[in-house]
Amino acid sequence: MTSNRANRQLWNQISGAYQDDHDPRIGAAPRLWGMFSIPDQELNALGDVTSKRVLELGCGAGQWSRTLAGEGALVVGLDLSETQLAAATQAMGATRYPLVQGAAEQLPFAPSSFDVVFCDHGGLSWAPPHVVVPQAARVMRRSGRLVFNATSPWFTVCYDDEADKVTTQMRHDYFGLDAVAEDDGATTYQLTYGDWIRALRGAGLVIEDLIEPRPDPGNRSGYTETDPPDWACRWPAEMLWIARKP
Ligand SMILES: C[S@@+](CC[C@H](N)C(=O)[O-])C[C@H]1O[C@@H](n2cnc3c(N)ncnc32)[C@H](O)[C@@H]1O
Repeated sequence: MTSNRANRQLWNQISGAYQDDHDPRIGAAPRLWGMFSIPDQELNALGDVTSKRVLELGCGAGQWSRTLAGEGALVVGLDLSETQLAAATQAMGATRYPLVQGAAEQLPFAPSSFDVVFCDHGGLSWAPPHVVVPQAARVMRRSGRLVFNATSPWFTVCYDDEADKVTTQMRHDYFGLDAVAEDDGATTYQLTYGDWIRALRGAGLVIEDLIEPRPDPGNRSGYTETDPPDWACRWPAEMLWIARKP
């Protein structure tokens, strides 16, 4: 829980500017995944959510939650930052859905409350996966699915902190990947692929797929500069895990 305070402060601070910069792209169309806004229709990760109980871990301004509520899902959006939740409240359309302030590390829900738990660079990026995955598994019903998109270990290892961009040089150790320092004392988390597998299997989940979203060559990330510009077309910048509770 050590990163909570700084992460909450960071998101409260940057929420306004972040939404000004990114909301037009995140919310440009329904169901867009990640830093390259790749449609779920292409990736087939989330499936039909009609009438399903869905939890978004780290919902931000609710671009995803809003879409799924509109499709008939019973969505709950959870986020640590009250400013991000205020943005989600403001952006909520005719279809209302509940928002909860809380931490992905300690979910305030009863066991088996949800059919689907998911996030897109949310609670499984901004909180320790070895704590969050068991929490997600606890609140999922049997046959429920955990679907999440996050930065890939390739991207993290090749990130040039000084130049603030991703390059083709390995700059960070792969073994030992864990906490990644962000601005103002905030923290994100990354694991090796082996540790991701062990975190999911250790929580009793069965891994169904690992999708590696691949943008078209002309599609540039709206978040991070890459060198070469088509970096993510050549190496996976993100990883989209799909796991099921048996
Ligand atoms: C990059 S946003 C993800 C939301 C949306 N998909 C997007 O791309 O904007 C990350 C969100 O995670 C939230 N967050 C950070 N740490 C969290 C935690 N421990 N538990 C729940 N949410 C957290 C932040 O407040 C922020 O709204």
